[in-house]
Amino acid sequence: MSVIIAIDGYAGTGKSTLARDLANALGYTYLDTGAMYRAVTLYLLRNDISWLDAEKLGRALQNIRIEFRISPDNGKRHTYLNGEDVEADIRSMAVSGVVSEVAAVSAVRRFLVEQQRQIGMEQDCVLDGRDIGTVVFPNARFKFFITAPMEVRIARRLGELFRAGADIDADAVQANLEKRDREETQREDSPLRPAPDAVHLDTGGLDREQQLAAALKHIEAQ
Ligand code: DC
Repeated sequence: MSVIIAIDGYAGTGKSTLARDLANALGYTYLDTGAMYRAVTLYLLRNDISWLDAEKLGRALQNIRIEFRISPDNGKRHTYLNGEDVEADIRSMAVSGVVSEVAAVSAVRRFLVEQQRQIGMEQDCVLDGRDIGTVVFPNARFKFFITAPMEVRIARRLGELFRAGADIDADAVQANLEKRDREETQREDSPLRPAPDAVHLDTGGLDREQQLAAALKHIEAQ
């Protein structure tokens, strides 16, 4: 049986950095499930398909192939949509603005959760998302629920967007984070909430090494 480490929490709390660092430290595969919801969203936006039109959405999903591959440009793991490297495009504000609406649609969730379970069954994995410890792998060996104060989350997202060359202000980032928090915790299908057996970790006062050390300490103690 493969070992699963589930990392759930709000956007911009440092989940994916922690998940990637843990996967590197332990030699596990890292699976960014948010990137999968983003890739579906990008496909729908590009092809002008409404996620509320069940029939068109169903057909669109059959044409979507998501993979994670090492980019020949920088040696990092990138998200590929139907063979195209979309790592930068899926992080754009256009995608961030509506991805939580797409992620609320059950057909999209079923489509992606099945793939996530398949990948997790084949290898030891660290997965980060919103429903990993509650829905995708309720029997995960280790579960973390990550939080951070709003100011810290805004600063992190601004940094990411700035490095990606986007021109965006703090108010817009805050509005987007608040919208997504609302939509992700209030949706009917797989709302964001901590699994009862998750370890809570507030990354607000921690730097990257400290948050990795805190998570590893819990893993080694179990
Ligand atoms: O982690 P992220 O910001 O890249 O996630 C993008 C969106 O996908 C986010 O609005 C919530 C959704 N998501 C989800 O509903 N379930 C997951 N397991 C991962 C992400």
